[in-house]
Amino acid sequence: MILKNIIDCISVLEQETFSDAWSRDSIEDTLKQDYNVVYSYFVSDEGHSVYRISKEQDILVYSKPYDGDWTIKLISWEDFNVCDDTNVGAVDTLPGRFGGYIIASLIGDETELHRIAVVNDLRGKHIGTNLLDFYMEDADECNRYFLEVRESNSIARALYEKQGYDELAIRKNYYSNPTENAVIYEYQR
Ligand SMILES: CC(C)(COP(=O)(O)OP(=O)(O)OC[C@H]1O[C@@H](n2cnc3c(N)ncnc32)[C@H](O)[C@@H]1OP(=O)(O)O)[C@@H](O)C(=O)NCCC(=O)NCCS
Repeated sequence: MILKNIIDCISVLEQETFSDAWSRDSIEDTLKQDYNVVYSYFVSDEGHSVYRISKEQDILVYSKPYDGDWTIKLISWEDFNVCDDTNVGAVDTLPGRFGGYIIASLIGDETELHRIAVVNDLRGKHIGTNLLDFYMEDADECNRYFLEVRESNSIARALYEKQGYDELAIRKNYYSNPTENAVIYEYQR
């Protein structure tokens, strides 16, 4: 149940944010591949939490009360992916307001960030930075990190450059709707 709710949140934010938004089905399909990982961010009255979701292992939940440090716990897929409301002990509600997400793939020693977005009225509060920190730390067995971004997206580019990404190449007219160059960034560990 909670997984369904998280996919719904990501899907809505995709539609609100991107002209080439991923459909709900493609987000779901992404999660069927072992090498893909989703990080989803929540803000509640108690603090912040980040869910690391990937088929190849149990769900990692990072939580941080406003006056404390990050702690980690595990939730099994069985409890997480529950669709039966009668299932006792199932985790079925979202742990606060959905704040944003990352979708990335980790393959061998390379990783690629495919999507990142933060809910409009929560931007500028370092949720993007926190998400990127979790992803980059999580992928610490990778040597090369890649991503691409619209040339005009100065806020995202500032975020990536702050985290140590370097410009690698320009892909001319890579994006459509509107047509625009892509900047390829790389981070080397
Ligand atoms: C890009 C995005 C994920 C950043 O998330 P965020 O939570 O707002 O970013 P943060 O608050 O962590 O800020 C990160 C850095 O971005 C820059 N930044 C953030 N807001 C900014 C603004 N309004 N103006 C200029 N720079 C800004 C700053 O360098 C900031 O670091 P600093 O505060 O330490 O100086 C968010 O703006 C977003 O969802 N944008 C729409 C989707 C998108 O463009 N995704 C990227 C596609 S490749």
